[in-house]
Amino acid sequence: MKPPVIAIDGPAAAGKGTLARRLAAALDLPYLDTGLLYRAVGRRVLDGGGDPADGAAAAAAAAALTPAELTRRDLRGPEVDRAASLVAAQPLVRARLLDFQRGFATERGAVLDGRDIGTVVFPAAAVKLFVTASLAARAERRWRERRAGGTAPTLSAVEAEMAARDALDAARAVSPLRPAPDAVLLDTTTLDPDAAFAQALAAVRARLDAP
Ligand code: CDP
Repeated sequence: MKPPVIAIDGPAAAGKGTLARRLAAALDLPYLDTGLLYRAVGRRVLDGGGDPADGAAAAAAAAALTPAELTRRDLRGPEVDRAASLVAAQPLVRARLLDFQRGFATERGAVLDGRDIGTVVFPAAAVKLFVTASLAARAERRWRERRAGGTAPTLSAVEAEMAARDALDAARAVSPLRPAPDAVLLDTTTLDPDAAFAQALAAVRARLDAP
C-alpha cells in the first residue's frame, strides 16, 4: 500500500505544527512544516535588503532557496511572519516551492502542515484536517510563545498582527487559506494539546481505515 499523505491546514497559531509533528511521530511518517519554506524565502528577501512585496525579488529568493535554510534559527518573529505572508501571495514563489513539497512525500508519505496542502499541493491526500481556533485563543498562544522566547509584545499587538496576516492569507488570489471540501474540521479553541492530538489521531485513523 502506498504510504499516506496527511494534509493539515489552518490559520496562524491554530495548533497545526504541534499536531502535525505528533501525528507524524505516531504514524511513523516524515513531517514537513511548509510555513518554513515561505519564512525562509521571506528571510532571504529581507537579508538582501529587498521588499517582500516585490514579486521579482521574492521569486528570485524562492529560486535560490536551499533546504539547509529551513533550519535557520531566525525564521520566527513579527518581521518574518509578515515577510512570509507577503512572499506567499506571489504565484511564482508558490510555483517554485511546489516540487519540493510534492517530492518530500514521494517515498515514505508524509504529514505536511500549511495553508494549501489539502487544496493545492496534495488535493488527493488520504486525510485532510483543517485546524482552527478563535482569533483570541490563537493570539494568546502566540503571545505566550513570544514571551517565552524573550520578547514582550502586548497581547493586542499580537492579535492585530495575526488578524492582518490571516486576512492576507485568506484574501490572496493564489492558493488562499480555505478548507478543502473534504477536510475534517478541528476547532482547538477549548482543547489542550493532548485533547487536540487525541481527536486528530482518531479522525486520521478513521479516514485511513475507511474502505
Ligand atoms: O506558524 P504560523 O501558523 O504563524 O505560520 P506558518 O505556518 O509558519 O506560515 C507563515 C506564512 O507562510 C503564512 O502566513 C502564509 O502566508 C504562508 N504559508 C503559505 O502561504 N502556504 C503554506 N502552505 C504555508 C505557509
